[in-house]
Amino acid sequence: MRAQRIVVLGLGMMGRSIVEGLLRAGHPKKGIAATTRTREGAARLGRELGIAVGTDNAAAAAAADVLIFALKPPKTLEVAAELGAAGAVAPATLVLSIAAGVRSAQLEGALGPRVPVVRAMPNTPCRIGCGTTVLSAGAHARPAHLKTARAVFEPLGRVLELEEKHMDTVTGLSASGPAFIYVILEALADGGVARGLPRKTALEMAAQMVYGAAAMVLRSGEHPAALKDDVTTPAGCTIAGILALEDGKIRSVLSRAVEIASVRAGELASGK
Ligand SMILES: NC(=O)c1ccc[n+]([C@@H]2O[C@H](COP(=O)([O-])OP(=O)(O)OC[C@H]3O[C@@H](n4cnc5c(N)ncnc54)[C@H](OP(=O)(O)O)[C@@H]3O)[C@@H](O)[C@H]2O)c1
Repeated sequence: MRAQRIVVLGLGMMGRSIVEGLLRAGHPKKGIAATTRTREGAARLGRELGIAVGTDNAAAAAAADVLIFALKPPKTLEVAAELGAAGAVAPATLVLSIAAGVRSAQLEGALGPRVPVVRAMPNTPCRIGCGTTVLSAGAHARPAHLKTARAVFEPLGRVLELEEKHMDTVTGLSASGPAFIYVILEALADGGVARGLPRKTALEMAAQMVYGAAAMVLRSGEHPAALKDDVTTPAGCTIAGILALEDGKIRSVLSRAVEIASVRAGELASGK
């Protein structure tokens, strides 16, 4: 893996997180290159990250062992078509795409029928090494390709594998989910502020509480309902708060948010 040349197309929020994760994991700077849209951006990002950054996607792709599409979904299809027409991606190159809603078959069709493609859906906590990335193999991806994809994303957090049919739902849950939690965190802090807590402390407390509750689920392996039962003393304050949540239909509100975000994820590649 460390001997492989990795090229990231697009150095926005996610592309940059991937590069920073690879560097944190000890991947040599010389083994990573990237592209961005403008020359000014390329010069600045090259200085900041200490890697080669250019604007010529075809030249960068031709030199890649692992080519990562970190462009917006419609741009991913546009650039893939350009690279395919230029014959810039060899069948030995592993293509990873993090674009929401872009199917591996669309990339295979654009890049050439034998090119191995693995779709990956990371999320923004990848920036601090606490992310989740779900991988799914395209038609020509073999176990060795998935192993390489894992090595790219493991420095950014937890890595799971699923069939591609689930990727829009993964996007609605795991990639959109941090924003849902930020809304919840803000609302919880507001509740504390309404009762007189300083806002900064209320927010810190809420964030650490969500972090701790999530760690309890992940580390104990217990069902959240069992953990909830542990905190709800009969006639206590927590069950009173839970009833207020149920009055507000919190379960269906959150479930529907994931459902609707998943449907929207499937539409993103069209650019509408
Ligand atoms: N953000 C998330 O939470 C998240 C989570 C999972 C997956 N994703 C997926 O990740 C992909 C990137 O999302 P993002 O949030 O990182 O978007 P972003 O911040 O807008 O990054 C896209 C980058 O691509 C650059 N770019 C545009 N045209 C280019 C070209 N022709 N060649 C090279 N670079 C070009 C843009 O440069 P300019 O800014 O100069 O135009 C920008 O830096 C999307 O497909 C999205 O579906 C995002």
